[in-house]
Amino acid sequence: MKGKAGSEKLWGGRFSSDLDGAMLSFSESTEADSEMIAEDIWGSEAHALMLHECGIIAHEDLREILRWLETAREKFEAGELELRRELEDVHMNVESFLREGAGPEAGGRLHTARSRNDQVVTDFRMRLRRYLLDIRSGLAELRGALLELALKHAEDTMPGFTHTQHAQPITVGFWLAAHAAGLARDEQRLAGAYLRTNQCPLGAAALAGTSFPTDRELTARLLGFDGIVFNALDAVQSRDFAIESLAALSALMTNLSRMAEESVVFSSPAFGMLEVDDAFATGSSIMPQKKNPCAGELARARTAAVHGRLMELLTLLKALPSGYNRDYQNDKPPAWEACGHVVATLEVMTGMCRTMTLKTDRMAELAGAEFASATELANYLVRERNVPFRDCHELVGSLVGALVEEGATLDDHERVAQIMTERGQEISADQVAEIVEPSAVVRAQKSLGSTNPEQVLACVAQLRCDLSAEVEEIEADAQHLQDARDETARRVREVLDGN
Ligand code: ARG
Repeated sequence: MKGKAGSEKLWGGRFSSDLDGAMLSFSESTEADSEMIAEDIWGSEAHALMLHECGIIAHEDLREILRWLETAREKFEAGELELRRELEDVHMNVESFLREGAGPEAGGRLHTARSRNDQVVTDFRMRLRRYLLDIRSGLAELRGALLELALKHAEDTMPGFTHTQHAQPITVGFWLAAHAAGLARDEQRLAGAYLRTNQCPLGAAALAGTSFPTDRELTARLLGFDGIVFNALDAVQSRDFAIESLAALSALMTNLSRMAEESVVFSSPAFGMLEVDDAFATGSSIMPQKKNPCAGELARARTAAVHGRLMELLTLLKALPSGYNRDYQNDKPPAWEACGHVVATLEVMTGMCRTMTLKTDRMAELAGAEFASATELANYLVRERNVPFRDCHELVGSLVGALVEEGATLDDHERVAQIMTERGQEISADQVAEIVEPSAVVRAQKSLGSTNPEQVLACVAQLRCDLSAEVEEIEADAQHLQDARDETARRVREVLDGN
């Protein structure tokens, strides 16, 4: 049966005229929906299997439905399933395809006990969880690359900064492990978002549940969900899983952007502490000598885009009343866009980290520059001479002032010893040399989690151990989805093969 206007719309019954052309373009969502065609078909298979299992549709109808869903899948996998804009969305496209193939009798039964409202959010969660899994594995790769570098450079020294001014010498491994530690928390946030995304809303129907004797647990299981979103109204209207996912992605991108920033700044010849490989840099159209660290710059820019998409989603959702609202349709483009940016950024950042050259000589040279060992000199006086720290701070501060005036540095050990002795703290040039040497300074740090190479090794070991446990979890999550997919496919085959 078609609507009076002869519309192909599956909801056309009460309508007397066709959709205005401008309204069609305004309202159709096939572009964003093309991300979740496989999910929509899988969801329909699970729903049909459940309807039959619960005695709601007959075996012959199930068979016809599954046969045409299989055909739709094959066409999709062969790149031949084009979503027609006039059919509005992926759900209408798949259902129309099915009705054309299976006929209106069997084909018309699939949508029993289901609404596009629960269907769309089911597809959304399924597609998003797949993105989240990809992102979590991509992130694990980057964390692995950073930790490998950290291990290799556990003892090398570099300047540590506060206010982008030389602060204290640190180890290169310490700096890298700090980034890896931040990314480990990003994984925890993403794993949490995954957990709450992977809950099944299907079976909520339009908003109130259904009067058919459905089995929501079965569809959830067949679709690889960890459970169901129990309250049907909550199931169709909640999008906090997407907010949480994009928030976790935004936090991740902020961390990546800060690393990216350092790839830009530290590769500037003014720092000269690292060199980005040619494969991750680009040139200038006018200045032949230029090699620009564009990977890092673009990663910073992608971060802005991801943050923007989170804001879009938050604003989209903030004032919506209960139940389904068409506004929800605009929740998917920002999600896909954000995920796409994160996938791409992770891939490039990992490649860049794996191939960049850390210029350890230059790093070591800068490690003790700009009086960075001054704090340790003050600490020495506290420790060995029992002078209150505030007085040591004052004394070493005045020493630095005097050295700056003379154009000298802490490496002018004789002069340092002389000034300190004059100011009441007798010390030899050899002693000064031993204290201010950057690799001695980093080894002198003893507190838990400090820059001392031993602490760095312990930190890296812990992060590696956490990483391998998390990689196992990610693989288990992926396997769980694959098993569910296989189980659905097995049941579909069983019906189609007539067993
Ligand atoms: N394209 C719609 C969306 O993304 C699908 C659900 C439409 N539901 C409705 N009641 N019009 O939200």
